[in-house]
Amino acid sequence: MGLVLHRLPAKGGEVLTRVAREAKVPEPAAVDLTIAVPAAGGRGKALHFAHPILPASGTFGYGEEFEPFLAPGTFAAVLGKSISLEPRAGNPPPRTFETPAGLLNSIGLQNPGLDRFLESYLPRLARYGVPVIVNLVGRTVEDYCELATRLGAERAVSAFELNISCPNVSEGLRFGLDPEATRSLVRAVRGCTDLPILAKLTPNVTDIVEQALAAEEGGADMVTLINTLRGMAIDWRTRTSRLGAASGGLSGPAIRPIALCMVHEAAKALRIPVCGIGGITAPEHVLEFMVAGASLVQVGTHLYREPACVLEWIERLRQLLAEAGIQRIRDLVGTFKPPAAVREAIAE
Ligand SMILES: Cc1cc2nc3c(=O)[nH]c(=O)nc-3n(C[C@H](O)[C@H](O)[C@H](O)COP(=O)(O)O)c2cc1C
Repeated sequence: MGLVLHRLPAKGGEVLTRVAREAKVPEPAAVDLTIAVPAAGGRGKALHFAHPILPASGTFGYGEEFEPFLAPGTFAAVLGKSISLEPRAGNPPPRTFETPAGLLNSIGLQNPGLDRFLESYLPRLARYGVPVIVNLVGRTVEDYCELATRLGAERAVSAFELNISCPNVSEGLRFGLDPEATRSLVRAVRGCTDLPILAKLTPNVTDIVEQALAAEEGGADMVTLINTLRGMAIDWRTRTSRLGAASGGLSGPAIRPIALCMVHEAAKALRIPVCGIGGITAPEHVLEFMVAGASLVQVGTHLYREPACVLEWIERLRQLLAEAGIQRIRDLVGTFKPPAAVREAIAE
């Protein structure tokens, strides 16, 4: 019946509605896109989202750059660039370089620092009317704890995302490469706040499951997968990097298959939910990540191309799910079916 609906011309609205009712297929407007993320270990409150699409840290500023394009609260939550205790100037330019299927960046966590964030940016983020998730980055465990403690005292803050995965600064990656360091960092921040913690992990590791389990054991409520993959672009004539730093982080469509696989592997192993990111450029990709096991997704690089895409995507998600006879988007999470050969191999 879904196929019949799909083929009907857009003008035949009435016919389409009647067919939908007869077949007990939900009408798009009735499809439920809401997602709840429970607090791990029964502590604190669940986070509620109107739909699963968030902006990815570092590609959304602190919301204000998006105001000319859409109400930033159209996203399910707002999530700004990583914040450190001290202001950071970032890496020397050029800081971005476009590759055939992605973007290399070496921004280096430029940010205004905690004091200015509290004064100028957080009040604006709070006005958007959706949960505010603050992405934190530190040089030491104590830095992360101080950030979580001071920001945790602000009513406007709903959750933290710990950036323990940036390939453009040495201290960011250091935590994310070693499961023990990941576990103890998350555990330390857990001790400083009751707010939900999303641990954002790096894909620049051999075994993502080991890192994800370490974050879960440390008390994370969710893991965010993936940050950028380390990459380089060289100008052979000048023999130097196309970026102001020797290397950077690759994002965009090129990394989507890697992200999808890591989300799938981590979601199978974890009890806590996964937030999927990496190369999402269409609403269908949102659904692919959810089938792989993501409860939420983030869109990053694509926002440079289509900053207001989420407006259309929300409607399109409803249509796609209605056509497939799915009433609630959350029913799709983790429904990946291994191909027959894999099922047989598991059964043996
Ligand atoms: C220009 C740029 C800046 C970024 N800055 C941050 C950052 O400050 N903190 C962070 O956790 N991730 C940062 N990221 C990583 C993104 O949040 C995301 O994990 C990554 O880009 C993959 O998603 P995408 O392929 O949809 O862009 C940045 C990415 C880009 C492209």
